[in-house]
Amino acid sequence: MRNQASMSHLTELNKRRTFGIISHPDAGKTTLTEKLLLFGGAIQVAGAVKSNKIKRSATSDFMEIERQRGISVATSVMAFEYRGLKINILDTPGHQDFAEDTYRTLTAVDSVIVVIDVAKGVETQTEKLVEVCRMRKTPIMVFINKLDREGLDGFDLLDEIEQKLGLTVRPLSWPIGMGQRFKGVYSLYEQKLILFRAHGRQQEEDIIEITNLSSPELEKQVGPAAAEELREEIRMVDGVYPTFDRQAYLNGELSPVFFGSAINNFGVRELLDCFVEIAPAPLPRITEERQVDPIEDQFAGFIFKIHANMDPKHRDRIAFLRVCSGKFQRNTNYLHVRQNRKMKFANPTSFMADKKTVIDEAYPGDVIGLYDSGNFKIGDTVTEGEILHFKGIPSFSPEQFRYVNNDDPLKSKQLAKGLEQLMDEGVAQLFTKEDNGRKILGTVGALQFDVIQYRLEHEYGAKCSYEPVNLYKACWVSCEEPVALKEFLNRRSRDIARDNHGQLVFLAESAWTLKMAQENHPKIKFHFKSEF
Ligand code: G4P
Repeated sequence: MRNQASMSHLTELNKRRTFGIISHPDAGKTTLTEKLLLFGGAIQVAGAVKSNKIKRSATSDFMEIERQRGISVATSVMAFEYRGLKINILDTPGHQDFAEDTYRTLTAVDSVIVVIDVAKGVETQTEKLVEVCRMRKTPIMVFINKLDREGLDGFDLLDEIEQKLGLTVRPLSWPIGMGQRFKGVYSLYEQKLILFRAHGRQQEEDIIEITNLSSPELEKQVGPAAAEELREEIRMVDGVYPTFDRQAYLNGELSPVFFGSAINNFGVRELLDCFVEIAPAPLPRITEERQVDPIEDQFAGFIFKIHANMDPKHRDRIAFLRVCSGKFQRNTNYLHVRQNRKMKFANPTSFMADKKTVIDEAYPGDVIGLYDSGNFKIGDTVTEGEILHFKGIPSFSPEQFRYVNNDDPLKSKQLAKGLEQLMDEGVAQLFTKEDNGRKILGTVGALQFDVIQYRLEHEYGAKCSYEPVNLYKACWVSCEEPVALKEFLNRRSRDIARDNHGQLVFLAESAWTLKMAQENHPKIKFHFKSEF
């Protein structure tokens, strides 16, 4: 048993709730974040949270995207206090070309809130992200947004969530009408009726306690037709969905659902009040060596995101570290495990909406920004001395591939260095073919190719060009029998590469070649992520 930390440490860590909001672009993530921050008093006025979203019109303009990514540094972590808790919201880029950033950020949260647009239902980006959460059994709450607009029927929407997202849901609030006829929600969690005012602030008298739905008070507030419909629908809800069970939620097996309208700040407080009661405090994390518990007294954490400054005169980066155990302290010697060397951090920062502050200490669940001159890679572990390697930050197979060529032979060193650093940041993945040493870049979206070319030239003085390569997927391979592995590598030598960490990868040209390889080499395991 490891040493446990002091009482004050326990108090601090039990106060933390670290979560991420995920949604398809435009569903209302930024708006919801802002309303949550307003409740917490972290910001005073609406509009203070700059939208980090990359507008669709900008898809061909990567400089604009990088500018907006710059904004997103400030919103990477937003902390606020509410009902005695310290809540950390980790921002996730909505743009699908940066999905890999989002996957990695999800390794640093303890729970998520999924936002769904009532009119659009479940969209593709949400499907992928929720799949990553399900894999890790991350507790999920759902907020169905924009009830002030016409949208899908509540039951149909919940069916869609169950089918497309694979979640078992339990509504904890239920809408009364929608669009023009939207009258409010009934909170099953608090047994209260909350009336909607289209324009104007929510008033105390808009919240009416109704513990028994057959009460005539319901007719008085919403009219006979809506009252009857609500009773009928709640009967169905109670009949169809399981009762809410916090443990099932914490196990990632049951997702409570809330309805509201973020822009009108409606239904947001109910969501937040439930969140602070049920969401998990910092959870343990797995390392290759052992499980690390937040209550241990020795500090350990990992880097899940690196943000580079695009200005060549200031090639500094901010590495974002999630504290997993112990207490992080400023100006203290820590071990950078991969490099096996001691490091001190003079200016670790925390983020409060648009404010950056140098902090002296941080606790499990907190995320801090460390200034970095190129020492960190995504996935790196920092500890008080113990050799640990945090797991759960895998790379996924890229979707797009291109050969990368050096266009200036005198600058090959710069190109190699630039590529290495960009890969450390997680901008893309680099594969080196085993047969001829050619390099292939793999990305989630086409945008990154432009970003990489631009940054190589402007930050590293290297010139590269791309050549198309016809690939479907990169699969990491493993095999328990060395003879079978050797035979596979010999037979398929033209399709084998190493990733940036030296792991073996099979480059499949099509779904069919992958299937054939699986059939012909049954002893080889093909993995779609780099950790298995
Ligand atoms: P995102 O971060 O998920 O991409 O979404 P964001 O919050 O930026 O919201 C996308 C659009 O939806 C915004 O409108 C926002 O005002 C609107 N919106 C958010 N919540 C609601 C809601 O409850 N009801 C309605 N009707 N609209 C909502 P926009 O016109 O794209 O931007 P803006 O000009 O209003 O900033």
